[in-house]
Amino acid sequence: MRTSNFYIRKIPGNLTWPLRHRVMYPELSPESVILEEDDRGMHFGLFSADDRLWSVISLFRHGDGYYQFRKFATDTAQQGKGYGSALLSYTIDFCRKENGRVLWCNARTSATSFYKRYRFTETDTTFFKDGHDFVIMELEL
Ligand SMILES: CC(C)(COP(=O)(O)OP(=O)(O)OC[C@H]1O[C@@H](n2cnc3c(N)ncnc32)[C@H](O)[C@@H]1OP(=O)(O)O)[C@@H](O)C(=O)NCCC(=O)NCCS
Repeated sequence: MRTSNFYIRKIPGNLTWPLRHRVMYPELSPESVILEEDDRGMHFGLFSADDRLWSVISLFRHGDGYYQFRKFATDTAQQGKGYGSALLSYTIDFCRKENGRVLWCNARTSATSFYKRYRFTETDTTFFKDGHDFVIMELEL
């Protein structure tokens, strides 16, 4: 997908790691953001027209029509400009085209209002991990 100021494409998992680390867990070691499952996931990157990686998201299929996205992050200097929205919309469309039934995520409670805009709803499952409160949110595709 391409517009005049950005494009989205599939990327290898290791390209997501620096942004994940810088944006989501700068207080942890760089290696700590690497997921064992990264090899089995799909990773999408949103790039500026001059090829700078501004936003990343990782998608994992769990059996019959269930998709989970993880490690969604926009470069701090580029947040609030609509890139995260574009990448999340792209991911939702991708899951629909794959005949997905449900897309879910472990949402930081600080980001729940963002996901509600996309009609994700909060489940009853909450937990605390790596210094953050989470709630599982899901979207019926
Ligand atoms: C969540 C995140 C990926 C969104 O990316 P982004 O590129 O900033 O998103 P957008 O610019 O498309 O944001 C669209 C709107 O949502 C708002 N928004 C962004 N992050 C938000 C948040 N955490 N909570 C509530 N609203 C948020 C923006 O202000 C913007 O509002 P506007 O349309 O009224 O101006 C980004 O803020 C981020 O990397 N946050 C830190 C990491 C994180 O929390 N990841 C999610 C873990 S579940």
